[in-house]
Amino acid sequence: MIKACIFDLDGVIVDTARYHYLAWQRLAKELGISFTLEDNERLKGVSRMRSLEIILEIGGVTLDEKKKEELAVKKNQWFVDYVNAMKPDEIFPGVKDLLQKLKAKGLKVALASSSKNAKAVIKLIHIENDFDAIVDGTMTTHTKPDPEVFLLAAKHLGLSPVDCVVFEDAEAGVEAALNAGMKCVGIGSPKQLGKANLVIAHTGDFSIDHLNSL
Ligand code: G6P
Ligand code: MG
Repeated sequence: MIKACIFDLDGVIVDTARYHYLAWQRLAKELGISFTLEDNERLKGVSRMRSLEIILEIGGVTLDEKKKEELAVKKNQWFVDYVNAMKPDEIFPGVKDLLQKLKAKGLKVALASSSKNAKAVIKLIHIENDFDAIVDGTMTTHTKPDPEVFLLAAKHLGLSPVDCVVFEDAEAGVEAALNAGMKCVGIGSPKQLGKANLVIAHTGDFSIDHLNSL
C-alpha cells in the first residue's frame, strides 16, 4: 500500500522547467550551439553541471573546468532572474489541492528535486510548509537517474521505497524512481515517460483513486 507521494518540482509542481529551458537555450545561443526542445528532454531532472556538459557534447565543444563553472553560474543567474519574476499562480492547477487531499487521506508528501534552487522556488509559490520532507540538489551527490534523491526522501519520511510513489516529468527522473524501487507516475507524454506505471498529462489530473491502480 502506498504511504507517501514524492514530488519532483520543476515541471511537476510548477512550470519552472520552461525557465530552465529558456536559460539553457540562451547560453547555447551564445556558444553558437543549436539546442532544440527535443534536446532539452535530456536535461530534465539532470544536475546543472551535467546539463551543461550535455549541451557542450551536442555542440561538439570542449571547455576547461573553470570556463564550465563560469557558464553554469551565468545560466543559473538567468534562471534565478526568470524565477524571481514568476507569479505564485504559476504553480500548476490543482497541485495545492492534491497535496492537501493526500495529507487528509493520511499519506505523507515529500519534495525531491535535483535543483539547488528548489527551496527558493517553493517559497515563491507559497508551498514551503506543505511537505513532510524536502530533499534538494544541495543534499545529493549523484544526479537522476541515480535513485539517491528519492531514497533520501523516503529515509527522511521514515518509510521504505516500496511505500512510495514518485511524480516525475523527466525520463531520467522516471528511471531514478524505478531504480529506487518505487512506483512512478509520469507527468507528460507516454512517448518520453513510457516506463512509468501511469502517465498523465498534468499533475492536477491525479486523483486518490489512481493510487489503487498503481
Ligand atoms: C531539476 C531540473 C533540471 C535542472 C536541475 C538542477 O532537476 O529538472 O532541469 O538542471 O534541477 O537545477 P539547478 O536549479 O540546481 O540548476
Ligand atoms: Mg522535473
